[in-house]
Amino acid sequence: MNLFGMVKDSTRPYTRLESKFYDHFIAPSVAGFYSHFEQALGLMDGMDDAFVLDVGCGGGQLLEYMAKRRPGVRAVGVDLSGDQIRRARKRLAPYGSRMSAITSSALDMPLPDNEFDLVVSIGCIKHWPDRLKGLAECVRVLKPGSRLLVVEADRGCRLEDVAYLAQKTPLPFLAKPIFRIFYLVKVAGPSLDMEEMRELAKKLPIKKVRVSRVPGLPGLMLDAIKK
Ligand SMILES: C[S@@+](CC[C@H](N)C(=O)[O-])C[C@H]1O[C@@H](n2cnc3c(N)ncnc32)[C@H](O)[C@@H]1O
Repeated sequence: MNLFGMVKDSTRPYTRLESKFYDHFIAPSVAGFYSHFEQALGLMDGMDDAFVLDVGCGGGQLLEYMAKRRPGVRAVGVDLSGDQIRRARKRLAPYGSRMSAITSSALDMPLPDNEFDLVVSIGCIKHWPDRLKGLAECVRVLKPGSRLLVVEADRGCRLEDVAYLAQKTPLPFLAKPIFRIFYLVKVAGPSLDMEEMRELAKKLPIKKVRVSRVPGLPGLMLDAIKK
């Protein structure tokens, strides 16, 4: 694929270089907000021995975060990019078999039905060629009564929230204006807005659906329980 095709096609797997760039510059700023999700949603409350799935786990930062805080938690990460999975496996090696990572598309995961106590996906749905199919897969592998949390860039985001994210991202000062444009055009642009997320949620076997903005960030989240 030529450079133009790579820039245009957001559904192809991350290359080695993109994985490295993401791991060094973007993932740390995303990881800075994990505690926000954990606290705002009580994400891991009562989940001391939960079995968790992270869809689009990237380099495994969220899984590492959970492994450190909840010694009883077991988890699986899934990512389309073999390079991201290699990074995740390296990062998760200290936690042994309770933290694993597999290369797979979110749209067709080699995982059994009704298996997980929590399914999380951060920043991944915008890459899926069929978002409803990917979300239906996430719900399929959840146990009934268990929680789905999907966090994604908000196409209807506010400029001041993009500026805040740029400020928190560990890039050189002069690169920050470029990051802001990149986020708007390449990240939020191909993503979805709250209305589209609500429409997708209506088609899934889930209840207690909440679609909301991530406060202070150019992102949105879907939080729901499998029926
Ligand atoms: C923006 S990164 C987010 C990584 C991580 N969740 C985080 O919060 O730092 C998006 C990830 O989704 C993965 N991805 C893209 N398309 C995918 C698909 N169809 N199935 C699974 N993973 C996919 C990419 O390889 C990449 O690692």
